[in-house]
Amino acid sequence: MPQLIFQPLNVSVDVAPNTKILVAANRQKVSMRYGCAACRCGTCGVKVAGGELTPMRDEERALLQRMGLALDGSVRLACQARVVDGSTVVDLDFQDTYSPDDGPADGGDEP
Ligand code: FES
Repeated sequence: MPQLIFQPLNVSVDVAPNTKILVAANRQKVSMRYGCAACRCGTCGVKVAGGELTPMRDEERALLQRMGLALDGSVRLACQARVVDGSTVVDLDFQDTYSPDDGPADGGDEP
């Protein structure tokens, strides 16, 4: 059974395959920043290591790119990434390192 380890809390939980990181955190009462839970706001970014997660969909990739975050799979949106197998470490401290409002200086789509 896949496992999630939330750091720095050192909380580990076994989860059914295909469980979203955000769902597992909420079930375990792990405090995590999030907003829309629907790949729109970008507040739920976490750093991940190890384990196997579902591949990044285009919507998630586009949002991470808009915020200037890594696209190599080391950063995922907790409301989108699902656990497939293995043991995945989720670094919650990463959430303090970025703001979803800080995108690359490309003008964005602000009116
Ligand atoms: S909670 Fe809004 S993008 Fe994940």
